[in-house]
Amino acid sequence: MNAPNRGKASYNMKQELIETFKKLYGDGGDIRIFFAPGRVNLIGEHTDYNGGHVFPCALNMGTYMIIRKREDRVLNFYSENRKELGIITSGLDQLYYTEQAGWTNYPKGVLWAMKRDGYEISSGMDVFVYGNIPGGAGLSSSASLEVVIALAVKELFGFTDLSLIDLAKLCQYAENHYNGVNCGIMDQFTVAVGRKNNCIFLNTNDLTYQYVPLDLSDAKIVVTNSKVKHNLAESGYNRRRSECEEALKELQEVVDISGFGDFSKELFEANATAIKDPSLLRRARHAVYENLRTIEAVNALSEGNLVKFGILMNDSHRSLRDDYQVSCEEIDRLVELAWEHPGVIGSRITGGGFGGCTVSIVKQDFVDSFTHHVGKGYQESFGHDPEFYVIET
Ligand code: GLA
Repeated sequence: MNAPNRGKASYNMKQELIETFKKLYGDGGDIRIFFAPGRVNLIGEHTDYNGGHVFPCALNMGTYMIIRKREDRVLNFYSENRKELGIITSGLDQLYYTEQAGWTNYPKGVLWAMKRDGYEISSGMDVFVYGNIPGGAGLSSSASLEVVIALAVKELFGFTDLSLIDLAKLCQYAENHYNGVNCGIMDQFTVAVGRKNNCIFLNTNDLTYQYVPLDLSDAKIVVTNSKVKHNLAESGYNRRRSECEEALKELQEVVDISGFGDFSKELFEANATAIKDPSLLRRARHAVYENLRTIEAVNALSEGNLVKFGILMNDSHRSLRDDYQVSCEEIDRLVELAWEHPGVIGSRITGGGFGGCTVSIVKQDFVDSFTHHVGKGYQESFGHDPEFYVIET
C-alpha cells in the first residue's frame, strides 16, 4: 500500500487491501471487508456527557477491516498503519487490557464487551486494518476502529439483534471500561449511525436523533490539525467530567433537573448561585449554553442561515476557551487566524480539546487562500505547519 489516501476507498483499493490480507494470512475461507468512518463535530462540545445535544457528521475517511474467521480461538491483528509492529497475536481467552497490546486493546475491548453482554464469539479471527483518519487529531480514529470490529463481528457471528445504536453503546462501554477513557457517546454513535451528506442532531440524554442534510451551499468544512496533543488531554477531559458532576449535584439541591440539558437560560441564571466555586460555575455555564447554542445552530442551518450558524460556532469556541478551558495556545491561534480571514463563516476547536483540530466553514472560493493564510501564520508562531483536510462527508 502507498501513502494514505484520505477518502473512501475505490474498488481497486479494496481489492488491493484484500490481496495484502491474503499475502499476510494466506488465501481461502470467507474473507470479508467492512468500513466505519471517522467524525467531526460541528457544534455541541463537551455536552454529550452532560445530557445535552451534539451535532457531528461522519467523514468519508475511516477504517477498513478485512477479516476472516479461524478454526481455533486465536486472534491475529495487523495494522497497515503500524506495519512495524507486525502481527499481534492474542486469544479469545485473553481479553484484558495490557500495555503491550497497544492499538489492539480497542478491538479486543469490543470483543470483551460483546462477550460480557452474552454474545458468544465462538472462534478466533485474522484481522487486517487500514485507516486513513489522521491519528490523534480528534477525528475519532479509535471510535472508528471500535465500530468497524463491532460491525464485522455482528455479521460474522450472526448477532442480528444488535442494532447500530447497540453497537455504539457497546463500543463506548469498551472504551470506558476496557481502555479506561471516560468518553461520552458522541463519537461511537456518529461513527455507527452516520450517513453520507448528513449531520446527526443527537440528544444524548435519551439518544433520540435526527439526520439533518448538510447543505452548506457554496461553502466547505475545513478541518485544521494543529498537530499538537498536550499531556493534559486525558486527565483534563476526565477532570472536566467530574467538575460537571460536582456542579450538577449542587444545582440539584435547589432545582429538579437530571442534567444540564434540562436548563433554559432563565432557569440556569435563576439557580446558578447554588454553585459556590467560580470555576465550577464556568464549567456549568458552558454545558448549559453550549447545549442551547447547539439547538439554535441546528435551527439556523435548517433555515439556511449559515451566517448565524457560523456566529454560534465562534461563540462555542469562546466558551470552550474561557469557561470550559479545554483549548490551548496553538488551537486559539488557528481559530484567530481563521476568524480574520474574509472567507470564513465560522471556526472553533473540535473534539476533546487540549490540542487536536479546529473545524471551520469556509466559502469554497476562499479555501486555498484560507489554508495559505492560516498555514503561514501558524508556521510563524510555532515553527511547524498545520495540516488541512477539506471534508467530504
Ligand atoms: C471526545 C469524547 C466525546 C466528547 C468530545 C467532546 O471526543 O470522546 O465523547 O465528549 O470529546 O465534545
